[in-house]
This record gives sequence, structure tokens and C-alpha cells, in this order.
Amino acid sequence: MSAILEVAGLRKAFGGIVAVDDVAFAIDQPGIYGLIGPNGAGKTTLFDVICGRQMPDTGTIAFEGRPIEALRVHQRARLGFSRTFQECRVLAEETCLDNVLFGAQDKRLGPEWMQGLTRNTAAREAARTEARRLLELVNLERYADAPATALSYGQRRLLEIVSVLISRPKLLLLDEPASGVNPTLLNTLRDFLRRIHEERRIALLIVEHNMEFIMSLASRIVVMHQGQILAQGTPAEVRADPRVIEAYLG
Ligand SMILES: Nc1ncnc2c1ncn2[C@@H]1O[C@H](COP(=O)(O)OP(=O)(O)OP(=O)(O)O)[C@@H](O)[C@H]1O
Ligand SMILES: [Mg+2]
Repeated sequence: MSAILEVAGLRKAFGGIVAVDDVAFAIDQPGIYGLIGPNGAGKTTLFDVICGRQMPDTGTIAFEGRPIEALRVHQRARLGFSRTFQECRVLAEETCLDNVLFGAQDKRLGPEWMQGLTRNTAAREAARTEARRLLELVNLERYADAPATALSYGQRRLLEIVSVLISRPKLLLLDEPASGVNPTLLNTLRDFLRRIHEERRIALLIVEHNMEFIMSLASRIVVMHQGQILAQGTPAEVRADPRVIEAYLG
């Protein structure tokens, strides 16, 4: 069976800076993968290239065996990609419920979905029910009709993640979801990510600097350093790797 995601020979340079330098790795099964490495290692750029926000200089990207380098962001999203951003993006003035519903529209999920939301009352109700259920999963149901400004920063991050889930992705890329999230909400976030992974068989690729968080969540860790993959393995293997300790964990 094809890997969910497989990249090979990926390179992306900005002028003289090679942000992603001959990167190859695969997500073979719907597990929870961590992507770690020092500031400037190229993690966000790698996400941007995988999602189609940046075009690679060279290399291949396959999703379930299908080459997708030529596809645009929304075309990749329709295949089953979602991502969140390092700087939290929510629609501050909109209600939390609408934020989740807009998550679907933003992905331009195709005529069926949009028609469902705009014309078909039953489908619209189903989408609202699903959106409320997602808010419940992160304990935000009581904010459904409140604007996102009513939320703490950590709660907004949770809202951003549930907003991208309404499109039912197969692969979810999260860029530093734990950043700025307080310890209590971190537990909610960890439990929630485990739960959606288990219930929906979503593959997760998570960039994170919070080592305690990612090492306790991911079953496999990929380490980037200076644009390249420095190491890959289980959290225990990566923690014990002298190259990783020297470049990042030391
Ligand atoms: N649009 C851009 N134009 C020019 N240089 C860029 C651009 N985006 C990223 N870079 C550079 O590419 C390198 C990798 O940056 P990137 O943001 O991918 O790192 P990162 O691993 O996500 O770091 P952090 O952990 O700080 O978020 C850095 O040297 C950065 O300055
Ligand atoms: Mg980054």
C-alpha cells in the first residue's frame, strides 16, 4: 500500500538560504509524527512546500501514491490535507461556531459541500451539528455563539485546530499547536489530538518545540537541522541520539 505522504529530494531555497535541503521522509500509516529541530531548521518551510503554499525548487511529493507537486493549495486540501499555522489564525470577530463552519468554506471543498451549506437545510444542519460536536471535544461548546475574541490564546489555538477538522482531513499538519497554551489546556490538547487520531484514523504531523508535549504524544519523531533530516526514530531513540543532542536537545 502507498504511504499517506512521501516526499523525496525536496529542496526550497530563498536566495542563498537553503531552507529545505534534499529532504526525504514518509508517513507510512496514520500515526502521530513529530517534526522537531532548532529555530530556522526549515520545519515551517517544509510544511509550506507539502501543502502547496510554496513551490519546491526540486523534489517529489506523493499523497497516497499520487504525485501532487503540481496541485494548488485548495486542490491538495480536497484530497485530504489540512494544516494550521505557526501564528494562530482564527476569525476574531466571528463566532466560534462560524469559525468552524468557515473552516470548510476556506478549503473550497467543492460544489457538493458548498451547496450543502448554502442551499440544503438538512446538510447545513448536519454541518452545524458536526461543528458543535467538534467544539465539545475541546470543551468550547459554551462559546459556540460567542466571538473568538472571548477565548484565551490557548483556546483560540484549539478552535483553529477544530476548524480545520470539519473538512475531514486524512492528514493534518500542525505548526506549533502547543505554543502559548497553558498547562491545563495542554492536557486538553494532547487528549484531543490522541482522540481524533484514534477515532478518525487521521495522520498527524506536528511541529513542536515543547519536547515534553511532543515526546509524550508522537510515536515517531523526525528531526530537522539546517534544512536537512538529521535523525528519525521513536522518541526514545531520538532523545538518545548524540547528533540530536548536540544540534537541538543539548
Ligand atoms: N519567505 C521567506 N523568505 C526568505 N527566507 C525565508 C522565508 N521563509 C523562511 N525563510 C528562511 O528559511 C529558514 C527556515 O525557516 P523556517 O521558518 O522554515 O524554520 P523553522 O524550522 O520553522 O523555524 P522556527 O522553529 O523558528 O519556526 C530560515 O533561515 C528562514 O529565515
Ligand atoms: Mg516554524
